[in-house]
This record gives sequence, C-alpha cells and structure tokens, in this order.
Amino acid sequence: MGLPPPGSPASLLPAAALCLLSCLLSAPRGHACPAGCVCADSHTVDCRARGLPSVPSAFPLDVRKLLVADNHIEAIPADFFIFYGDLVYLDFRNNSLSSLQEGAFSGSAKLIFLDLSYNNLTELGAGTFRSAAKLLKLSLANNRLAGVDEAAFESLESLQVLELNDNDLRSLNVAALAALPSLRTLRLDGNPWLCDCEFAQLFSWLQDNMSKLPKGLNEIQCSLPMENRRIFLHELSEASFSECKFSLSLTDLFIIIFSGVAVSIAAIISSFFLATVVQCFQRCAPNKDTDDEDEEEDD
Ligand SMILES: *[C@@H]1O[C@H](CO)[C@@H](O)[C@H](O)[C@H]1NC(C)=O
Ligand SMILES: *[C@@H]1O[C@H](CO)[C@@H](O)[C@H](O)[C@H]1NC(C)=O
Ligand SMILES: *[C@@H]1O[C@H](CO)[C@@H](O)[C@H](O)[C@H]1NC(C)=O
Repeated sequence: MGLPPPGSPASLLPAAALCLLSCLLSAPRGHACPAGCVCADSHTVDCRARGLPSVPSAFPLDVRKLLVADNHIEAIPADFFIFYGDLVYLDFRNNSLSSLQEGAFSGSAKLIFLDLSYNNLTELGAGTFRSAAKLLKLSLANNRLAGVDEAAFESLESLQVLELNDNDLRSLNVAALAALPSLRTLRLDGNPWLCDCEFAQLFSWLQDNMSKLPKGLNEIQCSLPMENRRIFLHELSEASFSECKFSLSLTDLFIIIFSGVAVSIAAIISSFFLATVVQCFQRCAPNKDTDDEDEEEDD
C-alpha cells in the first residue's frame, strides 16, 4: 500500500486522528466522567457535594462505585440499575430522597453496599430491595421512616448490617427482621418506640437476638403507653408484657370453654337421641322373645 516508514510525521497524523475518533466514539459508551465529577479510575465516579438536584444522566456503564453523597437528589431514577448493573457500592447519603420507587433496585444483583442515610424517606414498601440479593450493608439511618412493611427486606439473604437508627419508628413488625437470615448488626436506637402490646413480640425477638445490637438493650428507649415517660429496654422484662399475654390467653380460654360447652351439648343431645332409640326398640320389639331368651340364659 506504500505506507511511509513508521515514526515519520506523515504516519503519526492518521494515527492521532484515528485515536481521537475512537475516543469520541467510545465516550458515550463507557468512559466519560460526568461533568463536575471526579473519576479516579474507570470504575469509580465521585460526584459528592456538587449541589446536584438529580443523578447525572451519563456514567460509564461499567461503574462499580458511585458516590453521590451530600447533594440534593430527590429520586433514584427508575431502571437505574438496569443501566448500571455492575454497581457494587452506592453512597446516596445526605440527599433529598423522600420515597423509593418500586423497582428502583431492579437489576441491582451485584450491589453490596447501599447508604441511604440522611435522606427524607418516610416509608418502605414490600420488596423494596427485592433484587439486591448480595447486599451486605444497608443504611437507612437518619431518615423519617415511620412505616416499614413486614416484607420490606424480603430476599436480602446476604444482609449483615441493617441501620434503622434515628428514624420515626414507633413500631416494627418483627417479621421484617426475621426475614434476614445473615443479619449480624442491627441499629434501632434513636426511634420513638412505643412499648405497648404490639411491641411485645419485637421485644422478645430483641432479647433472643441481643448480640446483634451493638450496645445491647440499654441503647434503645421506648415510651410507656399510659405514662408520659421513656424507659430503656433493659428495664423491661417479659413480665412487663404479662398483661398482653394474659389478654391473649383469656381469648384462648374463651375459645376452649366455648368449644367445651359445644362438645358437651352435642354429647348430651346425641346420648338423649340414643337413649330414645334404645327405649323405642325395647318398647316396640315383641316382649315374649326377649323374655324367652332371658329364661334360656338363666337356665
Ligand atoms: C449534607 O450535605 C450538605 C451539602 O449539601 C452539607 O453542608 C451538610 O453538612 C451535610 N450533612 C451531613 C449530615 O453530612
Ligand atoms: C425533608 O422534607 C421536609 C418536609 O417535607 C422538608 O422541609 C425538608 O427540606 C426536606 N429535607 C431535605 C433534605 O430534602
Ligand atoms: C432471633 O430470635 C428469633 C426469635 O426468637 C429466633 O428464632 C432466632 O433463632 C434468633 N436468631 C439468632 C441468630 O439468634
């Protein structure tokens, strides 16, 4: 083809043009760093404290570690993880999330670390994190959570650390926690827990799983339903909830008594019926025959 010898200026020019072209072409596909962010390497994007109102639109598709803490982001875009399925580490701390859309975490199969602390979340629905089966640490601390669905953490089979501290939780269905087979560390402090009968189940679970609470039961406070007073959980015992148990067993007792009465009535009716039948047979049957038989037996 008659190419100039390598190293000559004539041969460098097309090479440079080719490089420029390929760099431009590959940029939208994967290696661009969003404006204003810092990308230490091709897998790490750091957009912390940039005053961002939303998640920047284009990241390298193979981003693994995304830091967007300390912004004003109001939503995690739907299908976010469908595009960025390689994400392992997502730091969303200190933003303005007020809700999590259903399916926001679809495709988050590689996610291991998720920090949603210091946001404005108020509720967690069933299966919010359904796809994140590899998640090890989930922080929801310092939000305004008041309602957590009993299936909110379903399929988080690897989750070891769950932070729910400093929210607005007055109660929590124990099924939400019992669904986490790998749980090692649980933070529940800093919530306005109400130690009523509904709390009894959670209290008993916490007693059995006390080792998972970093500071044990003496870091969690709850308020007594009747008195205007907060106490530490370690001041409570199973006996504190004995009234709740009593009311439960009273119901059981009623059921037992009622079914007992029903069975007795059925027994009386059926024996009365049987007695009538027997009597009827004795009256209606020919007397002679029975008398004869009796006499034969006597002999
Ligand atoms: C949250 O981010 C803002 C900047 O957006 C910063 O000034 C503030 O100190 C951060 N708060 C926390 C608790 O990290
Ligand atoms: C959280 O929500 C409250 C009430 O809606 C609002 O006043 C506050 O500014 C929000 N905070 C953030 C960080 O978005
Ligand atoms: C936590 O408590 C529950 C309910 O009492 C119990 O079934 C479970 O085995 C406990 N988990 C651990 C790891 O101790």
